[in-house]
Amino acid sequence: MSRSHVEVQTGLLARRAAQLATRAALVLTDENVAALLPAALAERPRHVLVPGEASKSWDELGRLLRALDAGGVDRDGHLVAVGGGVVTDLGGLAASLHRRGISWSAVPTSLVGQVDAALGGKTAVNLGGGKNTVGSFHPPADVVIDPGVLATLPRRHLCAGMAEVLKTALISGPEALDAAAALEPDDFAAATPAAVAVIEACVATKSALVEQDLHDRGPRRALNLGHTFGHAFEALALAGDPADSLLHGEAVALGLLCAARLAAGLPDADRELPARLTGTLRRWGLPTSSPLTAEPLLAEMGRDKKRAGGALRLVLAPRPGRVEIEDAVPADRIRAGLEAVRKSASTS
Ligand code: GLY
Repeated sequence: MSRSHVEVQTGLLARRAAQLATRAALVLTDENVAALLPAALAERPRHVLVPGEASKSWDELGRLLRALDAGGVDRDGHLVAVGGGVVTDLGGLAASLHRRGISWSAVPTSLVGQVDAALGGKTAVNLGGGKNTVGSFHPPADVVIDPGVLATLPRRHLCAGMAEVLKTALISGPEALDAAAALEPDDFAAATPAAVAVIEACVATKSALVEQDLHDRGPRRALNLGHTFGHAFEALALAGDPADSLLHGEAVALGLLCAARLAAGLPDADRELPARLTGTLRRWGLPTSSPLTAEPLLAEMGRDKKRAGGALRLVLAPRPGRVEIEDAVPADRIRAGLEAVRKSASTS
């Protein structure tokens, strides 16, 4: 199945809780979200993760698969994953493996999850120091998006989601970018009509790309805008001092700026775009510079390159609504993108 039923509505989690609970052979969540589960879901058998990226691991996947097995979940069983990207990535992967694949529902409770991670069926865990190195394409049967739950998110996590919002809006076009850039964090926390409309627009843009290209061989690649750079920042931050840790969205913010600086050199590019993006990211408290130097980042991107089969591919958006994919990008161009972000440290 490549198409999920996706619904966006404030208050939806409470309204759908009983129906989800009836289907759920197991509820997957994390310790933060467990406290917020509606009673009907809280009463179902559940597997609770320690919050954070470290739970997106091979070991945790094994524990979850054993829980599904021990719970007697058969091929008709259904998993309900309620949480951020870690919960839905891990839950989706377990659902794709248990008894060779069971159905599942995604209930994303983070902004990153609502506009990106829970949509489109990419599932994964991290292995060998890289991000999302083991995974599958296994779209959820349905995605239940309740913008009302964003009020419970820590502000840093809420703001990190704005990077994915901006990415999707950039892919979509100038109107989408204007609407997204006009929002403040409180708009999402209060689920204002403008914020809900932006979430719906992101869902529509991503769903259209996934429908054309579930397996990420063509148009869906646009959604990797900022991610080739971003994954390198994220992987190095994960391996480094916890005080310098980066949330996924924060790493994507840096990646978007690297890509924007490179795209600004393309013919017919919107030369104001990097400064505009920088201004919006700063307003949201997102990083616009990094102390990481180009060489280790380049080496990390090289690891991804080997995984992708040799060539380093970049997605660039020279202007809102125009996405170009460059194959076999030479290292000195990548370095230029990385250095541009690093240089911006002196001006921030
Ligand atoms: N997060 C990018 C994608 O789902 O393709």
